[in-house]
Amino acid sequence: MYKTSEIVAQYGITESRLKEYIIKQNIPVVNEEEISKKYFQTILSFIENTEDRIEKRLKKAEATFKYNSDKNKVSIYQDDAISFLKKLPSNSVDVIATDPAYSGMNDKLKLGKGRIVGKYADKGKENGKWFGEFEDSEENYNEFLSECRRVLKKSTGHIYIMFDSYSLLSLGNVVRSHFDVKNLITWDKVNIGMGHYFRRRHEYIIFATNGNTRKIRNRKFPDVWRFKRIHSSKYPTQKPVEVFQAMLHASTEENFTVCDPFLGSASSAIAAIKNNCNYIGCDISDKSIEISNSRISEFLETGKDNIQTKSMAVDDKIFWE
Ligand SMILES: C[S@@+](CC[C@H](N)C(=O)[O-])C[C@H]1O[C@@H](n2cnc3c(N)ncnc32)[C@H](O)[C@@H]1O
Repeated sequence: MYKTSEIVAQYGITESRLKEYIIKQNIPVVNEEEISKKYFQTILSFIENTEDRIEKRLKKAEATFKYNSDKNKVSIYQDDAISFLKKLPSNSVDVIATDPAYSGMNDKLKLGKGRIVGKYADKGKENGKWFGEFEDSEENYNEFLSECRRVLKKSTGHIYIMFDSYSLLSLGNVVRSHFDVKNLITWDKVNIGMGHYFRRRHEYIIFATNGNTRKIRNRKFPDVWRFKRIHSSKYPTQKPVEVFQAMLHASTEENFTVCDPFLGSASSAIAAIKNNCNYIGCDISDKSIEISNSRISEFLETGKDNIQTKSMAVDDKIFWE
């Protein structure tokens, strides 16, 4: 049995809309507020298709950026990823596409005798690190992933999580305990990067569903993606928009809601806007919020991306033909 008061609290639908639907559909209510499992499934599809649940729930959280048009609704928040996800109603997001900050990464990226070198050594560091960290522990990831699973819609939920080789080895198995992993995608960055032994040229993306059978757009896409890395980026861990575009092209339809709780420089937001999706994102860092707000508003106004000025695509037109 499901209590109507709990449905309202968890799924962010208003009591009046829920009651109206229950009456319209002649759904039996026992003991004044209990609904059987059988009828709950019908209610769930109604809830998933009810607009504005996220906006209503996030009303109290102050957005650092907000945009509303027929094509896109975009909002950005400064928050910790888990705390932000906890504010979202259950079954409200269609696709999570994210590139978390792994705490091991700051260490692994140190060169020579462990110094952070290069143009990021002084600029943009937070607490002596290149960027804020999200602890790589299984405990933290379990909490993060269970929140991701809760907010993803049961019927449409797809999730893409980026990993470097180190974090994949330690956390890939944790993803499998929460989601139905469908692919391990390799992002080939075309040009080599740093590395004391073999020089790094790739990262990974886990693609998974939350158990539903929704397919991707078509079956033409390979699981190795070639997009050039961004050199001299404005944000230390900035990824090519094309990497996110490939994810969203495969997994979204118009007006789907995309979420990235590790926004960075908002590459996923630009990809979502290009795919005519709604977008909610958050990041803990001041610099990320500052860069993202300016990048998104300029892109919405002029169609110009002020920090990735050229395409990083090599030969993968297949993703948006
Ligand atoms: C790898 S970067 C994302 C880069 C982004 N994909 C882009 O293309 O610019 C990870 C981001 O996570 C943010 N971050 C670190 N800890 C966080 C936390 N606890 N909650 C939310 N964001 C966090 C960092 O500030 C950083 O911007």
